[in-house]
Amino acid sequence: MSTSDVLSPGLPPGLPDPAAIARLAGELFSALPGLSAAGGVPVPANPHPAGLSLPPGVTGPATPAAVPFGAVPPGANLVPTSPQAPANMLASAPALRPHAQAPNAVPDHLLSAAPAYDGRAGTHAIGVPPVPAAAAPYYFLDGGGIPGRDAVDVPVDDRVTTQSFGLPGNDVLRGLLSEEPRRATLPAEPAGAPFYFIDTSAERTHNGREIPQASSSAHPPFDVHAVRRDFPILQERVNGRQLVWFDNAATTHKPQSVIDRIAYFYAHENSNIHRAAHELAARATDAYEKARETVRRFIGASSTEEIIFVRGTTEAINLVAKSWGAKHIGPGDEIIVSHLEHHANIVPWQQLASEKGAKIRVIPVDDSGQVLLDEYQKLLNDRTKIVSVTQVSNALGTVVPVREIVEMAHRAGARALVDGAQSVSHMKVDVRALDADFFVLSGHKIFGPTGIGVVYGKRDVLADMPPWQGGGNMIADVTFERTVYHAPPTRFEAGTGNIADAVGLGAALEYVERIGIENIGRYEHALLDYATHHVKPIPGVRLVGTAKDKASVLSFVLDGYTTEEVGKALNQEGIAVRTGHHCAQPILRRFGLETTVRPSLAFYNTCEEVDRLVTVVRRLSAARR
Ligand code: ALA
Repeated sequence: MSTSDVLSPGLPPGLPDPAAIARLAGELFSALPGLSAAGGVPVPANPHPAGLSLPPGVTGPATPAAVPFGAVPPGANLVPTSPQAPANMLASAPALRPHAQAPNAVPDHLLSAAPAYDGRAGTHAIGVPPVPAAAAPYYFLDGGGIPGRDAVDVPVDDRVTTQSFGLPGNDVLRGLLSEEPRRATLPAEPAGAPFYFIDTSAERTHNGREIPQASSSAHPPFDVHAVRRDFPILQERVNGRQLVWFDNAATTHKPQSVIDRIAYFYAHENSNIHRAAHELAARATDAYEKARETVRRFIGASSTEEIIFVRGTTEAINLVAKSWGAKHIGPGDEIIVSHLEHHANIVPWQQLASEKGAKIRVIPVDDSGQVLLDEYQKLLNDRTKIVSVTQVSNALGTVVPVREIVEMAHRAGARALVDGAQSVSHMKVDVRALDADFFVLSGHKIFGPTGIGVVYGKRDVLADMPPWQGGGNMIADVTFERTVYHAPPTRFEAGTGNIADAVGLGAALEYVERIGIENIGRYEHALLDYATHHVKPIPGVRLVGTAKDKASVLSFVLDGYTTEEVGKALNQEGIAVRTGHHCAQPILRRFGLETTVRPSLAFYNTCEEVDRLVTVVRRLSAARR
């Protein structure tokens, strides 16, 4: 028996029929010692059931006693604990955890082996309501809340697992399904291409290139299609084609666990953060402070007092410039940035410099887009007060040697800020190992919500900084004569902050932790290598940013086309890229350009998606040559 036996004539070519897969699995298990045929996996009556839209373990509004995000009894979070108990980590279905079982009792990996089911399996298993035919264009506008949310109640403990049937776990089944060559079902994929995402020793190339694998660490094998099911928006269709999201440097998509966490906050915890006032205030405060602790752990800070919530990286750098800068920068002082910087790491320093009579110095880059450390060394002197550099260039993808840059700044007696907006989602960051005085990041670039970001500052550096905004929350005592400020981080969080989205950011970082940032980095590196290998040789393409060490970004221009034309042609095929100056005009001008086309990758992207982009760029290239 081979998997080709289970191809269904009723489905698109290459799409295995789930009922047939289940039958095949049943036959396998019935053949295993000690198991009867009756112990096989039941064939689902309807593999595409309508209305099964609750996340595993999430109950509808009709069961008020149930607590979707875990076994947190009312009042339990009056003490600072995680609102997300282990059972609900499973409910959130992170890709590298044992998966939530599909509500139709088919073991999850049966479905994860069939990517064309993503829309169905992902949608229903993670609780995204299907859009009814002929419904309002937006499902949330039909006046009835989210359809399907109260359709089914699947208590965590009652969910079916393979073990419930006395069967071996997913690994055995997965092993079976990986024995035969499989076919991907994306339209642009060349016939016969193997599924590259199953980690078998026989399938390690795709179109002649090494297939991204991320399985050699302590983490389980990286299953990109399982990851993709965690991100409901990836099932969107744009211009009739499944969305390809290559605009990750602009913003990333959110896994269901983040979406659910924010919804849970508003459903069960919403309050301003003043712990002692009442029950919900205690819940909200605990959730917010737990998120701060998650950020601390994620970036390796030594204390939560070093973690300040802000709106994003732009506000983060403004905070440092307006608080630390106001106190420490004077006439004649120098501020060093690199030629790669985003406008957010240029403009606040310029404003400060013009206010104080200070000067901006710029570290140049070579023709590959890498900073020139020897030129940087020449810029450092005793007037240098701060060096502020990005860790990854948003326009070129260059990974900057920030450890060395920080060390050189410190040797010159200057402070150092590292802009991690484009790095934290791609590589392990340890602020203590970097020894940066400040490290800043944006939540939405790391699978979290917009409107939330972080300033990390060394405790002694923050302690010495004045507030940059005044108002509620940041004060210990106020009279009409004077104000006593709180210590950091509260001193820097005036007014009601973005509480729910801080909590969402915490959920995003936990999601990344469960996948493993090293796994993510390894996979993306191979994917970028694959993309570079296929885009670079297209006639008329000029890659912009060719440093040896790069992450995520593949900026290019195409002869005979404006970047906007290329972006529109890609959008016609459902492929989202950013075209323009990427808020980094100085570095593009360094390369004689005003704009580029900028595909930027994340760990939920695939070789097949890259193939789709390459097909469009090749077609454009051929048309004007
Ligand atoms: N900084 C974001 C980008 O690079 C907006 O696209």
